[in-house]
Amino acid sequence: MEKTILAIESSCDETAAAVVRGTEVLSSVVASQIDLHALTGGVVPEVAARAHLQQILAVIDKALLGYKICHLDRIRKSADEWRDLKERDPSTRLLNSNRLGMTRPKDLIKYIDYIAVTQFPGLIGSLLVGVETANALGLAFSKPVVPINHYSGHLFSFLPAVKKVAWPVLTLTVSGGHTSLYFLKSLNNYIKVGSTRDDAAGEAFDKGAAILGLSYPGGPAIEKVALGGDPNKYKLPRPMLREPGFDFSFSGLKTALIKLKEDIGSAAKVEDLAASLQEAIADSLAGITKKALLYYKPKALALVGGVASNSRVQGKIEEVAQTQNIEFYLAPKGLRTDNAAMIGIAAAMTIKDNEVNRDTFKEASARVNI
Ligand code: KG4
Ligand code: ZN
Repeated sequence: MEKTILAIESSCDETAAAVVRGTEVLSSVVASQIDLHALTGGVVPEVAARAHLQQILAVIDKALLGYKICHLDRIRKSADEWRDLKERDPSTRLLNSNRLGMTRPKDLIKYIDYIAVTQFPGLIGSLLVGVETANALGLAFSKPVVPINHYSGHLFSFLPAVKKVAWPVLTLTVSGGHTSLYFLKSLNNYIKVGSTRDDAAGEAFDKGAAILGLSYPGGPAIEKVALGGDPNKYKLPRPMLREPGFDFSFSGLKTALIKLKEDIGSAAKVEDLAASLQEAIADSLAGITKKALLYYKPKALALVGGVASNSRVQGKIEEVAQTQNIEFYLAPKGLRTDNAAMIGIAAAMTIKDNEVNRDTFKEASARVNI
């Protein structure tokens, strides 16, 4: 039976907790710090860490409450389903007690099998809050704590959107902190085939927005403004397309955009500049992904990470999959920007893997170091 996992994510500017079972998300809560960081136009690590401290226990409580509601809903459905559920998950019996309605969220931790937490990479002060909270809960409730790499969280975040995965899958991760291509032969056998040499795609949106005087985070702001602009008005560079390999590079876009803005001066329309920038980023992502598809010949292409919400990027990447006649998987909306559900799903994969291969099971311990 799939294990029930409480997952915690606090690597950057989202305080998040979730309860998952396998790839099924039972509850997911994200407390975003966007408003706080909009004041400074970017994340100030010290401010982020303090905000995590203020939010984390309430966010975990809310995720456990969501788990309880999810269970109660299922129990109420029908006697047959209830019997089914009970067979599949003995913990349901305990949760069906009359006392459940009054159970405090923290008492629900006893129904959790594992606690998963983002261990790396991220802002050290932010990570510490999540890791030490997970350690404390693990110690207090005698639960094993599973350290998860944030990247692997993004990597598997398309799974809830797919019934039966067509392996192998090429995954394009596009977020604020990283841009990479992974070739996934199966859940526990994957290799990195390319990554950014400098800025991430999300960073290119964020820095581009700052240059254009748009709000933080830049991605959604650029997408909104670009709707009223001409994407072919200005030709910004599409680097790395003719280089060997499958690496990306976005830092040159900043300089090109600053120069372009200066050259056109007051005649510059922010809508056209935003649309041209978005087009250059989407073209670069699509072009390099296509090269990798032709080389690795996967059966499916997955798009994950915060930038996966951009419709122009989505459209171009889906088109690449269509032209190669392979399946296209998009991470579900709530699992694109940082969240704890994806950390829980990655933990479920790790636990499954370790149960098969007991040698590596030592990774799950009551103490996660940072
Ligand atoms: O995955 P995520 O939370 O970041 C990291 O894990 O690093 O994604 C955040 C990034 C930000 O750079 C944000 O500007 C970008 O995703 N983003 C978008 C959109 N929504 C979020 N970029 C382009 N278009 C969007 N609609
Ligand atoms: Zn992330």
